[in-house]
Amino acid sequence: MRKKVIAGNWKMNMLPDATIKFIEELTPLVKDKDSEIILCVPYTDLFYALMNAQGTNIKIGAQNMHWEQSGAYTGEVSAQMLKSIGVEYVIIGHSERRQYFNETDETVNKKLKTAFSNELKPILCVGETLEQREVGRQDEVVKSQVKLDLEGLTDDQVSNLIIAYEPIWAIGTGKTATTEDANNMAETIRSEIADLYGKNVADKIIIQYGGSVKSSNSKELFETSDVDGALIGGASLKVDEFYNIIESVKE
Ligand code: 13P
Repeated sequence: MRKKVIAGNWKMNMLPDATIKFIEELTPLVKDKDSEIILCVPYTDLFYALMNAQGTNIKIGAQNMHWEQSGAYTGEVSAQMLKSIGVEYVIIGHSERRQYFNETDETVNKKLKTAFSNELKPILCVGETLEQREVGRQDEVVKSQVKLDLEGLTDDQVSNLIIAYEPIWAIGTGKTATTEDANNMAETIRSEIADLYGKNVADKIIIQYGGSVKSSNSKELFETSDVDGALIGGASLKVDEFYNIIESVKE
């Protein structure tokens, strides 16, 4: 049985005070949970989050990183920098980065390789646009992203990857993919991984769904065969709501 992985993506929200308070409040609520619980916080909150999550079962992630180890890249943060302060996870290729910051499958692929070589665990985001879904191209688009993004990774690396299927039209819009659509795509991704890396790897890889996940739709989502958790934006900013989503995992 794959473990459920519940991750919050705070995006460009929350200041250090709010971060500390959030973790203090969440810690006792989730201390006995079996799910992997991750908070992907802004760079400026990382240190505070790490300090306050020490000794708890809350893991901390970043939301992006550069693919080079170091160098003249003003304003960028490297994998090595994240690792050096104790960050464990990093989101790679979020659709907002692809859409607003020109990230491509090629840069996503480089970032995944660098994340692994620095022992960070990547959460790779893939997903189609509304136009692509309306013409029925979603499977083709997502399979192509998976193939290009993972090119050159080892079986072992892919087994340790988290893939978040986030249909772009469902992010922050209140429109959630139906549970069936989310699970169908998780199955499609898993079978693409099986084709590329074998069934063993496909059985291990964690596939999350993301896009307007709330406590009112998470229970059903987590009961499906192939969705192993969620990457949560808006609903991860409030302790109660984030906790209710974690609580909806059947243990
Ligand atoms: P929302 O949950 O706010 O729709 O955001 C999803 C997301 O982009 C998580 O990475």
